[in-house]
Amino acid sequence: MIRVLGIETSCDETAASVVALEGTSAPEILSPKILSNVVLSQIAEHAAFGGVVPEIAARAHVEALDGIIEAALADSNTSLDEIDAIAATAGPGLVGGLIVGLMTAKAIAGAAGKPLLAINHLEGHALTARLTDGLSFPYLLLLVSGGHTQIVRVAGVGDYQRWATTIDDALGEAFDKTAKMLGLPYPGGPNVEKAAAKGDPARFAFPRPMKGSAQPDFSFSGLKTAVRQAAQAIAPLTEQDVADICASFQAAVADALADRVSRALMRFKVEFPQEEQPALVVAGGVAANRMIKTTLEELCDETGFRFVAPPLKLCTDNAAMIAWAGIERLNAGFEEENAFDFVPRSRWPLDVVSAPVIGSGRRGAKA
Ligand code: KG4
Ligand code: ZN
Repeated sequence: MIRVLGIETSCDETAASVVALEGTSAPEILSPKILSNVVLSQIAEHAAFGGVVPEIAARAHVEALDGIIEAALADSNTSLDEIDAIAATAGPGLVGGLIVGLMTAKAIAGAAGKPLLAINHLEGHALTARLTDGLSFPYLLLLVSGGHTQIVRVAGVGDYQRWATTIDDALGEAFDKTAKMLGLPYPGGPNVEKAAAKGDPARFAFPRPMKGSAQPDFSFSGLKTAVRQAAQAIAPLTEQDVADICASFQAAVADALADRVSRALMRFKVEFPQEEQPALVVAGGVAANRMIKTTLEELCDETGFRFVAPPLKLCTDNAAMIAWAGIERLNAGFEEENAFDFVPRSRWPLDVVSAPVIGSGRRGAKA
């Protein structure tokens, strides 16, 4: 049995978790267990600023992390002695938070004489579906969060190829900015979705960015501009105007997403013709959106893909995915890397081979 303590502090969640795996066989045969999963969200501390403030985030991590780690150990009925390794997010993300998490992990691992693993937060998202659904490689991942919008081909532990990314804003960021423009509270995504439920998705003909382009990349800043122009043209906005704009925005997003993702599904089929039931995994906070989820589900039905959406608690930022990535790396024999020398990286692409896309990842804060 391997038991790993995971620590996540890359953005505005302070999280710790203990995950266990019996033996070292493939997870599709022996199911892993999440023994504890403690997540403290800082949303309330950032809400007044309409977004995550890095200094506030770092300070909040410092204050909360020790208690969160203690709670994760206590919830799992595991003592530090029984932990086999410590896995901490080392990037990408806000560097202040990363320093807090990685330094704490180094201190605990050093004092307790345990191995330390420096984990890429995106790898945590990429491997979650193996923890929750026992998925086998290869599969396709759509990561849609506040900081990232990517399609990644996941073919093994450490074997990732980014097939698409956003050339400007992340999708969650587009939801948050739209909400802000319309005077809806932070975080924007859930509030835009709520308003959209009462709106007319056909009232505004917003653009479907990148639709039809052969490369499945994303772009959302033009859509954001179109929303601003539409709102300015009819200001002051009534509640119904806001609802109609939100519904029309969401319809444009779902439509653009379906077009972009379908390109990647086609490519996957060409590259992996032997896969009988290929899978599309969705991760990130935007995966909470019902309309987006339904659109992707329908797309998968039409194209013969299995749609895998891990429980939302494990789709958004958490430390169970970091502990799990640690277990996967140990099983794959990656433990030789000396994480005690590892310096946190605010930018750390999962696929180092893919060329950076101009304009993408400007914010680099959330993953
Ligand atoms: O994965 P996540 O919890 O945090 C990181 O970005 O790391 O994602 C948060 C993002 C925010 O931009 C939020 O507005 C968006 O996910 N989001 C949603 C919904 N719930 C959260 N976007 C659209 N619809 C939702 N229901
Ligand atoms: Zn994330």
